[in-house]
Amino acid sequence: MEKERVCVTGGGGYQASWLIKLLLSKGYMVHATVRDPNDEKNAHLKKFEKASENLLLFKADLLDYDNLCSAIAGCIGVFHVASPVPPTSVQNPEVELIEPAVTGTSNVLKACSLSNVNRVVVVSSIAAIILNPNWPKDRIMDESCWSDKEYCKTTEKWYALSKTEGEGQAIEYSETTGLDVVTVCPSLILGPMLQSTVNASSLILLKLLKGNTSYCSY
Ligand SMILES: NC(=O)c1ccc[n+]([C@@H]2O[C@H](COP(=O)([O-])OP(=O)(O)OC[C@H]3O[C@@H](n4cnc5c(N)ncnc54)[C@H](OP(=O)(O)O)[C@@H]3O)[C@@H](O)[C@H]2O)c1
Repeated sequence: MEKERVCVTGGGGYQASWLIKLLLSKGYMVHATVRDPNDEKNAHLKKFEKASENLLLFKADLLDYDNLCSAIAGCIGVFHVASPVPPTSVQNPEVELIEPAVTGTSNVLKACSLSNVNRVVVVSSIAAIILNPNWPKDRIMDESCWSDKEYCKTTEKWYALSKTEGEGQAIEYSETTGLDVVTVCPSLILGPMLQSTVNASSLILLKLLKGNTSYCSY
């Protein structure tokens, strides 16, 4: 019987690498998108158990709809993990953060519809929830609580804005098209890295270990 195929976007990243390792161990055929399959920073993926037979790398930027379609074709499920997570402030938030998060999510979801994907998991963030100064202090923040986009803009919390707009886009797309989309909002993910470069959340841990307490760039 042919193995079930799933796609993971941003395959070389911190979280996605663990996800790909897990999916391979469960017997899935994995399509991973990376911006450059030949970049040394993605080399760890090819070393995972079963990667030689069950992992295919696809070159795809989030703004490249056609390449995303090629990566997603034939998949029953898609994990949309890719999104810029800058360790420091950015020069041009619209281009560096908002566009890949929003247009990128839209491109992935459209490609999923084209390929009749059964379910899409979009990785959002706690940053899409907590920047809401008007939320009552004694009320639990749940699915109905969103970061305030105007507040994100005035305080220049561009990453939070990108995740809020990206997740909002995903939910709206699901409601209008019927595509089965699940969003998840992790807080701070820490633990061993599989990739060779340091990602932003691991950098926070490193800074804390070095005694720097002004670590959060949301
Ligand atoms: N780590 C946490 O604590 C945490 C908490 C909450 C939510 N999240 C979310 O989890 C997801 C993964 O984050 P991570 O911590 O694993 O960070 P990461 O290692 O920096 O992964 C981000 C991935 O997104 C890819 N990416 C960024 N812009 C792209 C673009 N324009 N086109 C294609 N790929 C692009 C990066 O590719 P390149 O390597 O080519 O740049 C990288 O593979 C993100 O959606 C993030 O918002 C993370």
